[in-house]
Amino acid sequence: MCEIPAMDAVWSEANGHALPTLITAIPGPRSQAAVDVLARHESPGITARRARQGEARGVGKDPIVWDRAAGANVWDLDGNRFVDLTAAFGVALIGHAHPAVVAAVQEQAPRLLHGMGDVFPNGPRIALMERLAAVAPGDLSQCILTGGGAEAVEAALKTAALASGRPGVLAFWGSYHGLSYGALPATAYKDDFRRPFHGQLGQHVTHLPYGCDLALIDALLAGPATGGELIGAILVEPMLGRGGNVVPPAGWLAGLRRIADERGVILIFDEVYTGLGRTGAWWAGDHDGVVPDVLCAGKALAGGMPIGVAIATPEVMGAWGRSVGEAIHTATFIGHPVVAAAALATLDVMAAMDVPALARAFEAAARARFGERVRGRGAMLGLALPSPGAAARVMGRALKRGVITLPGGVHGDILGLTPPLALSDAQRDHAFDVLAAAIAEEEAAHG
Ligand SMILES: Cc1ncc(COP(=O)(O)O)c(C=O)c1O
Repeated sequence: MCEIPAMDAVWSEANGHALPTLITAIPGPRSQAAVDVLARHESPGITARRARQGEARGVGKDPIVWDRAAGANVWDLDGNRFVDLTAAFGVALIGHAHPAVVAAVQEQAPRLLHGMGDVFPNGPRIALMERLAAVAPGDLSQCILTGGGAEAVEAALKTAALASGRPGVLAFWGSYHGLSYGALPATAYKDDFRRPFHGQLGQHVTHLPYGCDLALIDALLAGPATGGELIGAILVEPMLGRGGNVVPPAGWLAGLRRIADERGVILIFDEVYTGLGRTGAWWAGDHDGVVPDVLCAGKALAGGMPIGVAIATPEVMGAWGRSVGEAIHTATFIGHPVVAAAALATLDVMAAMDVPALARAFEAAARARFGERVRGRGAMLGLALPSPGAAARVMGRALKRGVITLPGGVHGDILGLTPPLALSDAQRDHAFDVLAAAIAEEEAAHG
């Protein structure tokens, strides 16, 4: 274990525990000037075009441009300080720029800044895989490390195709598995993501409603007229994240496990968002006591550095066979030593913080404050809003008061809360006051 600085020293006022201070308009002049440059040089599909359309929809103008972050605070280029309830898509679960992670990066960077993919392994990469085998559920113990979540999903799908010998995949409406060409056919969160590229996407994925009747799944897989007999993998988020913080019906994941076993299908849990304590258990599958054949993790795993992993049982991963000649799965940056060192430090901090307990405490506070509005589990919650598209407007209203949130849900009516767990009680209560005011304003304006 690396040395973990005492929490009170780490999360002092100056280091991420402060309430918002807004010293210019949101967005301020520096952010606006930077977004002008962005609009000229970044693909319009990414940030600036949406921001400028947002102005017309009354959801704020340009985005703030992030300058620095610590704990649960983010500062923009204009010096405004915010409380972040997103952890940047869930990544900063232990807090932005945790000192233990920063120290691990600083120590590793001058030693071995990058490795050599699959050809020559490096120490931190090996140590990380050993560590992941210890933290993964059941006997999941063999890894493919990747540069992000979508790549981890792709590695899991390849593994399942090899292990089952069948190309088909069952996934679920509302799911988000990433946007790269291997993950996108399974993603069914918004049609906009797929429509322009439909002709280039694999047609091997069948979708059913999330949480649907298990008998339907069984009938699909039974075939023969359904095409389901070609399905070799079930890919599922054990709680829907971007799709609206949907907790599956009790027993549903266990039902998927049973059906997968009966039909010789590989069960993949995409825990890129839910994993590592965010839902109040180390893995979202733990809530139902279910262990998949392959688990994907990412986001929070390296404390802010880019990473993903597909981790499987030796039996399932063994389907790759022994690597002879060139590895048939690799990437230039696979098992990057600085990222691996950051992940090792992050896992130490997560254990010391007891992330699941903090996540459960956040959920209790949110439920006490927002009651029936609350969806989800742990520190992966959504607040249900009255109308489609309302979440983006509430996000804009909260941002102007110094609180960062994200819209979610397939209809844009869920305000996503996935805070860094460095959030203090005072920050949390202040942020909740801001959200309550923003929601009240939205309801007054749009009913
Ligand atoms: C459940 C889930 N899977 C996969 C991904 C894709 O991860 P990445 O954006 O790192 O490729 C995400 C991203 O939000 C996700 O929430």
